[in-house]
Amino acid sequence: MKIAIIGTGYVGLPTGVGFAELGNNVVCIDQIVKKIEELNNGKITLYETGLEELFHKNRANGRLKFTTKMKDGVTGADIVIIAVGTPTHPVTKESDMKYIYAAAGELAQYLTDYTVVAVKSTVPVGICDDIEDIILKGNPKADFDVVSLPEFLREGFAVEDFFNPDRIVIGTESERAKALIAKLYEPFECKNRFLFVSRKSSEAIKYAANSFLAVKVHYINEMADFCEKSGADINEVARGMGFDSRIGMKFLQPGPGYGGSCFPKDTIAMVTMANNYGVKLNIIETAVKHNHLRKKKMSERITNAVAHIYNPVIAILGLTFKEGTDDVRESPAMEIVQEILKNGLSVKVYDPKGIKNAEPILKDTVYYADSIVDACKDADICVILTEWQDFKKFPFEEVSKVIKTPVIMDLRNILNREEAVGKGFIYHSLGSKR
Ligand code: UGA
Repeated sequence: MKIAIIGTGYVGLPTGVGFAELGNNVVCIDQIVKKIEELNNGKITLYETGLEELFHKNRANGRLKFTTKMKDGVTGADIVIIAVGTPTHPVTKESDMKYIYAAAGELAQYLTDYTVVAVKSTVPVGICDDIEDIILKGNPKADFDVVSLPEFLREGFAVEDFFNPDRIVIGTESERAKALIAKLYEPFECKNRFLFVSRKSSEAIKYAANSFLAVKVHYINEMADFCEKSGADINEVARGMGFDSRIGMKFLQPGPGYGGSCFPKDTIAMVTMANNYGVKLNIIETAVKHNHLRKKKMSERITNAVAHIYNPVIAILGLTFKEGTDDVRESPAMEIVQEILKNGLSVKVYDPKGIKNAEPILKDTVYYADSIVDACKDADICVILTEWQDFKKFPFEEVSKVIKTPVIMDLRNILNREEAVGKGFIYHSLGSKR
């Protein structure tokens, strides 16, 4: 099949590479000239585990192309996938549809034969109707269907999730479109989990799922607060809850708050969207408010831990919003670093992939370390803010030789308490009095 993908971000690029790997001819389109130049020169523009190899392979075999010209990608495509950003509008707090509407308006003129326009960007309920209207206005003779095709892949695991989705949600009433999308996903294992639903349900599923997961993270964070006071241990409590198959183990890991380009934006958009219909989503609203406060609380916790030290130095491990990605957008770690800098602390940071994106924001306010040991050298405390696998193999012995005081504050609960204490460290984690 010939596929055009509009938008080469964390959804568009892995999706394009994935469909090329499955044998389709894919053209990725983006307005940002520099990005397309880099991609055309064989330089991948974002980090995703396992993506680079497939990117080079499919560029080399000619199935994956990049262009800034909508015409070159869309003309003759069987399926046009819209995967542009839908950031929170600064004033209305709704998801901003300007990029989506612009893409729809521009692509309309290039539709020739029957085409499915599949919307992968996260859009509020009813937006696919608007997209249909915009395309019809731009090209009244166009033969097309607009399908809602929400994406559920996680950053950091985009390649794995692309090839092994839990389900494929396909929002359309059109039999022609259903057949074409089913053909696109034919190579996937999860055929018994193709969900054909209405377009509006499909749009709602994405927000409902992301908001539910954000609430789940918020829930376990509040339970961690409770455990700290009551003497229970959140790691034990989460395991005990998670073995109940109705609850499940996933998303029960306490942390400094959820972040990233999806949960914070989508929860706010969900609440705003519901408000517009006169529906109050109290649980999600509470999660939004307290997730924000949590980052402040974590900054205070760090500041208080070194309050007795003159000119304390803090080693921060992790800047990205989670492991496996170079993305620092809405990262709790970034917010916490900026907050403790305001409190006058000296900060050394290390992140395996996130420094490049963090540097333009943190500038020269911090020391950029090139390893865990380098970050911990002469530090008064080591704080873990991202759950990187690398950090799980913490080099206790090397760090104990260079750190000023052997204190670890593990705000992701990734280290083993007994091991840390056994190696002579004072170990603080979330959700435990010990
Ligand atoms: C999320 C969803 O999980 C994807 O299904 C969805 O496709 C994506 O948004 C999207 O809308 O595009 P993502 O933003 O990549 O994916 O990140 P998650 O893995 O969901 O993590 C979100 C945040 O929650 C991170 O800051 C993470 O550290 C935090 N988290 C997650 C926890 O603190 N504890 C957990 O147990 C799980």
